[in-house]
Amino acid sequence: MAGAGPQLSGRQKVALEAMAIDVWTPRIEFMTPQAQAQAPAPATAADEWGALEREALACTNCVLHQTRTRVVFGVGDRQARWLVIGEAPGADEDRQGEPFVGRAGQLLNEMLRAAGLDREQVYIANILKCRPPENRDPKPEESARCEGYLQRQIALVQPGLVLAVGRIAAQNLLREDTPLSNLRGRVHRYGPAGIPLVVTYHPAYLLRSPGQKRKAWEDLCLAMATVPPLRSTAPAQAAIDER
Ligand code: URA
Repeated sequence: MAGAGPQLSGRQKVALEAMAIDVWTPRIEFMTPQAQAQAPAPATAADEWGALEREALACTNCVLHQTRTRVVFGVGDRQARWLVIGEAPGADEDRQGEPFVGRAGQLLNEMLRAAGLDREQVYIANILKCRPPENRDPKPEESARCEGYLQRQIALVQPGLVLAVGRIAAQNLLREDTPLSNLRGRVHRYGPAGIPLVVTYHPAYLLRSPGQKRKAWEDLCLAMATVPPLRSTAPAQAAIDER
Protein backbone atom coordinates (compact mmCIF):
# COMPACT_ATOMS: atom_id res chain seq x y z
CA MET A 1 0.00 0.00 0.00
CA ALA A 2 1.31 3.47 -0.85
CA GLY A 3 2.06 5.35 2.37
CA ALA A 4 0.35 8.35 3.84
CA GLY A 5 3.08 10.57 2.32
CA PRO A 6 2.53 13.26 -0.26
CA GLN A 7 -0.79 14.42 -1.67
CA LEU A 8 -1.24 12.52 -4.93
CA SER A 9 -2.59 13.93 -8.15
CA GLY A 10 -5.30 12.10 -10.09
CA ARG A 11 -2.71 10.93 -12.64
CA GLN A 12 -0.45 9.57 -9.93
CA LYS A 13 -3.35 7.66 -8.40
CA VAL A 14 -4.25 6.14 -11.78
CA ALA A 15 -0.61 5.14 -12.28
CA LEU A 16 -0.40 3.54 -8.86
CA GLU A 17 -3.63 1.67 -9.42
CA ALA A 18 -2.28 0.41 -12.78
CA MET A 19 0.70 -0.95 -10.83
CA ALA A 20 -1.74 -2.67 -8.43
CA ILE A 21 -0.56 -0.49 -5.56
CA ASP A 22 -3.34 0.43 -3.17
CA VAL A 23 -3.54 4.11 -2.49
CA TRP A 24 -4.04 5.04 1.13
CA THR A 25 -6.55 7.82 1.48
CA PRO A 26 -7.08 9.42 4.88
CA ARG A 27 -10.62 8.86 6.15
CA ILE A 28 -11.49 12.53 6.70
CA GLU A 29 -15.05 13.55 6.11
CA PHE A 30 -15.32 17.22 5.33
CA MET A 31 -18.45 18.84 6.73
CA THR A 32 -19.59 22.39 6.54
CA PRO A 33 -19.84 24.10 9.95
CA GLN A 34 -23.64 24.06 9.52
CA ALA A 35 -23.71 20.30 8.84
CA GLN A 36 -21.41 19.76 11.82
CA ALA A 37 -23.81 21.65 14.09
CA GLN A 38 -26.76 19.57 12.86
CA ALA A 39 -25.00 16.18 13.04
CA PRO A 40 -26.11 14.04 16.00
CA ALA A 41 -23.50 13.75 18.73
CA PRO A 42 -21.85 10.31 18.75
CA ALA A 43 -23.24 8.03 21.44
CA THR A 44 -21.10 8.00 24.56
CA ALA A 45 -20.37 4.82 26.47
CA ALA A 46 -22.72 6.12 29.19
CA ASP A 47 -25.52 6.44 26.61
CA GLU A 48 -24.85 2.92 25.37
CA TRP A 49 -24.82 1.47 28.89
CA GLY A 50 -28.05 3.31 29.68
CA ALA A 51 -29.79 2.04 26.55
CA LEU A 52 -28.56 -1.52 27.12
CA GLU A 53 -29.68 -1.58 30.75
CA ARG A 54 -33.13 -0.18 29.91
CA GLU A 55 -33.55 -2.83 27.23
CA ALA A 56 -32.49 -5.65 29.56
CA LEU A 57 -34.72 -4.47 32.40
CA ALA A 58 -37.74 -4.56 30.09
CA CYS A 59 -36.78 -7.86 28.41
CA THR A 60 -39.47 -10.44 27.65
CA ASN A 61 -37.39 -12.54 25.24
CA CYS A 62 -37.87 -15.79 27.15
CA VAL A 63 -40.21 -17.34 29.68
CA LEU A 64 -38.00 -16.40 32.62
CA HIS A 65 -39.46 -12.89 32.59
CA GLN A 66 -42.71 -14.40 33.88
CA THR A 67 -41.18 -15.66 37.11
CA ARG A 68 -38.40 -13.17 37.85
CA THR A 69 -38.65 -10.60 40.60
CA ARG A 70 -35.87 -8.42 39.18
CA VAL A 71 -33.60 -8.48 36.17
CA VAL A 72 -30.00 -8.90 37.33
CA PHE A 73 -28.15 -6.77 34.80
CA GLY A 74 -24.58 -6.68 36.13
CA VAL A 75 -22.51 -4.62 38.52
CA GLY A 76 -19.07 -3.15 39.02
CA ASP A 77 -16.44 -1.13 37.25
CA ARG A 78 -17.50 -0.63 33.65
CA GLN A 79 -13.85 -0.18 32.70
CA ALA A 80 -12.58 -3.15 34.69
CA ARG A 81 -9.64 -5.24 33.55
CA TRP A 82 -11.34 -8.43 34.75
CA LEU A 83 -14.87 -9.39 33.81
CA VAL A 84 -16.30 -12.16 35.98
CA ILE A 85 -19.11 -14.20 34.43
CA GLY A 86 -21.30 -16.58 36.39
CA GLU A 87 -24.32 -18.68 35.55
CA ALA A 88 -27.60 -17.04 36.52
CA PRO A 89 -29.17 -15.20 39.45
CA GLY A 90 -30.26 -17.24 42.46
CA ALA A 91 -32.96 -16.34 44.96
CA ASP A 92 -30.95 -13.57 46.71
CA GLU A 93 -29.86 -12.01 43.43
CA ASP A 94 -33.42 -12.17 42.05
CA ARG A 95 -34.64 -10.28 45.14
CA GLN A 96 -31.86 -7.68 45.17
CA GLY A 97 -31.23 -7.23 41.44
CA GLU A 98 -27.47 -7.71 41.81
CA PRO A 99 -25.27 -10.68 40.86
CA PHE A 100 -23.47 -12.79 43.46
CA VAL A 101 -24.89 -11.33 46.66
CA GLY A 102 -25.72 -14.62 48.42
CA ARG A 103 -23.35 -17.08 50.12
CA ALA A 104 -21.67 -17.94 46.83
CA GLY A 105 -21.22 -14.21 46.30
CA GLN A 106 -19.47 -13.87 49.67
CA LEU A 107 -17.02 -16.56 48.61
CA LEU A 108 -16.56 -14.94 45.20
CA ASN A 109 -15.66 -11.72 47.03
CA GLU A 110 -13.05 -13.67 49.04
CA MET A 111 -11.63 -15.17 45.87
CA LEU A 112 -11.33 -11.72 44.32
CA ARG A 113 -9.72 -10.39 47.49
CA ALA A 114 -7.19 -13.21 47.27
CA ALA A 115 -6.34 -11.86 43.84
CA GLY A 116 -5.90 -8.39 45.33
CA LEU A 117 -9.23 -7.05 44.14
CA ASP A 118 -12.27 -5.52 45.77
CA ARG A 119 -15.57 -6.57 44.24
CA GLU A 120 -16.03 -3.02 42.95
CA GLN A 121 -12.86 -3.30 40.88
CA VAL A 122 -14.21 -5.97 38.53
CA TYR A 123 -17.37 -6.12 36.47
CA ILE A 124 -19.68 -9.04 37.35
CA ALA A 125 -22.41 -10.45 35.12
CA ASN A 126 -24.10 -13.76 34.39
CA ILE A 127 -24.97 -15.85 31.34
CA LEU A 128 -28.66 -15.27 32.22
CA LYS A 129 -30.11 -12.01 33.51
CA CYS A 130 -33.16 -13.68 35.08
CA ARG A 131 -33.43 -16.44 37.65
CA PRO A 132 -34.42 -19.90 36.42
CA PRO A 133 -37.12 -21.33 38.73
CA GLU A 134 -35.71 -23.52 41.52
CA ASN A 135 -32.22 -22.56 40.29
CA ARG A 136 -32.38 -25.16 37.53
CA ASP A 137 -29.73 -25.02 34.79
CA PRO A 138 -30.33 -22.46 32.05
CA LYS A 139 -31.96 -23.95 28.97
CA PRO A 140 -30.10 -23.49 25.66
CA GLU A 141 -32.85 -21.26 24.24
CA GLU A 142 -32.75 -19.04 27.35
CA SER A 143 -28.97 -18.62 27.05
CA ALA A 144 -29.32 -17.92 23.33
CA ARG A 145 -31.96 -15.23 23.87
CA CYS A 146 -29.95 -13.59 26.62
CA GLU A 147 -26.49 -13.72 25.09
CA GLY A 148 -26.80 -10.49 23.11
CA TYR A 149 -26.95 -8.50 26.35
CA LEU A 150 -23.78 -10.11 27.69
CA GLN A 151 -21.98 -9.70 24.37
CA ARG A 152 -22.81 -5.98 24.40
CA GLN A 153 -21.61 -5.69 28.01
CA ILE A 154 -18.33 -7.38 27.06
CA ALA A 155 -17.94 -5.06 24.07
CA LEU A 156 -18.49 -2.02 26.31
CA VAL A 157 -16.21 -3.12 29.16
CA GLN A 158 -13.48 -4.34 26.79
CA PRO A 159 -11.90 -6.37 29.59
CA GLY A 160 -8.35 -7.65 29.49
CA LEU A 161 -9.53 -10.99 30.88
CA VAL A 162 -12.73 -12.95 31.31
CA LEU A 163 -12.98 -15.17 34.39
CA ALA A 164 -15.66 -17.79 33.76
CA VAL A 165 -16.92 -19.17 37.05
CA GLY A 166 -18.50 -22.59 36.82
CA ARG A 167 -19.35 -25.09 34.14
CA ILE A 168 -22.38 -23.31 32.72
CA ALA A 169 -20.52 -20.03 32.19
CA ALA A 170 -17.46 -21.74 30.73
CA GLN A 171 -19.37 -24.01 28.37
CA ASN A 172 -21.64 -21.23 27.13
CA LEU A 173 -18.83 -18.75 26.56
CA LEU A 174 -16.56 -21.30 24.88
CA ARG A 175 -19.41 -23.06 23.06
CA GLU A 176 -18.10 -26.44 24.21
CA ASP A 177 -19.58 -29.20 26.32
CA THR A 178 -16.22 -30.31 27.66
CA PRO A 179 -16.27 -31.01 31.43
CA LEU A 180 -15.11 -28.09 33.56
CA SER A 181 -12.09 -30.03 34.85
CA ASN A 182 -10.77 -30.22 31.27
CA LEU A 183 -11.36 -26.52 30.62
CA ARG A 184 -9.38 -25.38 33.68
CA GLY A 185 -5.64 -24.83 33.68
CA ARG A 186 -5.19 -23.08 30.34
CA VAL A 187 -5.93 -19.76 28.75
CA HIS A 188 -8.75 -19.81 26.21
CA ARG A 189 -9.67 -16.99 23.84
CA TYR A 190 -13.11 -15.40 23.76
CA GLY A 191 -14.79 -13.80 20.76
CA PRO A 192 -13.36 -12.07 17.72
CA ALA A 193 -11.08 -9.90 19.88
CA GLY A 194 -9.54 -13.06 21.37
CA ILE A 195 -9.94 -11.90 24.97
CA PRO A 196 -8.02 -14.24 27.31
CA LEU A 197 -10.49 -16.39 29.24
CA VAL A 198 -9.70 -18.45 32.33
CA VAL A 199 -12.08 -21.02 33.81
CA THR A 200 -12.51 -21.72 37.50
CA TYR A 201 -14.93 -23.44 39.84
CA HIS A 202 -18.22 -21.84 40.76
CA PRO A 203 -18.12 -20.58 44.35
CA ALA A 204 -21.38 -22.45 45.10
CA TYR A 205 -19.53 -25.67 44.18
CA LEU A 206 -16.57 -24.63 46.36
CA LEU A 207 -18.96 -24.16 49.30
CA ARG A 208 -20.02 -27.79 48.84
CA SER A 209 -16.50 -29.04 48.07
CA PRO A 210 -14.07 -26.86 50.06
CA GLY A 211 -11.24 -29.28 49.27
CA GLN A 212 -11.19 -27.84 45.74
CA LYS A 213 -10.41 -24.28 46.87
CA ARG A 214 -6.71 -24.91 46.38
CA LYS A 215 -7.39 -25.58 42.69
CA ALA A 216 -9.49 -22.42 42.45
CA TRP A 217 -6.50 -20.50 43.80
CA GLU A 218 -4.35 -22.05 41.04
CA ASP A 219 -6.90 -20.79 38.51
CA LEU A 220 -6.71 -17.30 39.98
CA CYS A 221 -2.91 -17.44 39.82
CA LEU A 222 -3.17 -18.33 36.13
CA ALA A 223 -5.56 -15.42 35.58
CA MET A 224 -3.27 -13.01 37.47
CA ALA A 225 -0.23 -14.18 35.52
CA THR A 226 -2.13 -13.76 32.25
CA VAL A 227 -3.55 -10.29 32.93
CA PRO A 228 -2.65 -8.56 36.21
CA PRO A 229 -6.02 -7.46 37.59
CA LEU A 230 -4.84 -3.94 38.36
CA ARG A 231 -2.14 -1.95 36.68
CA SER A 232 -0.03 -1.12 39.73
CA THR A 233 -0.77 -3.19 42.82
CA ALA A 234 0.71 -6.59 43.59
CA PRO A 235 -1.85 -9.27 44.46
CA ALA A 236 -2.50 -9.85 48.13
CA GLN A 237 -1.84 -13.46 49.06
CA ALA A 238 -4.97 -13.79 51.20
CA ALA A 239 -5.76 -17.50 51.33
CA ILE A 240 -9.27 -18.18 50.12
CA ASP A 241 -9.32 -21.45 52.00
CA GLU A 242 -9.30 -19.68 55.35
CA ARG A 243 -13.05 -19.42 55.09
N1 URA B 1 -24.61 -17.85 41.01
C1 URA B 1 -24.34 -17.30 39.82
O1 URA B 1 -23.83 -17.95 38.92
N2 URA B 1 -24.60 -16.02 39.64
C2 URA B 1 -25.12 -15.26 40.61
O2 URA B 1 -25.33 -14.08 40.37
C3 URA B 1 -25.40 -15.86 41.83
C4 URA B 1 -25.13 -17.16 42.03
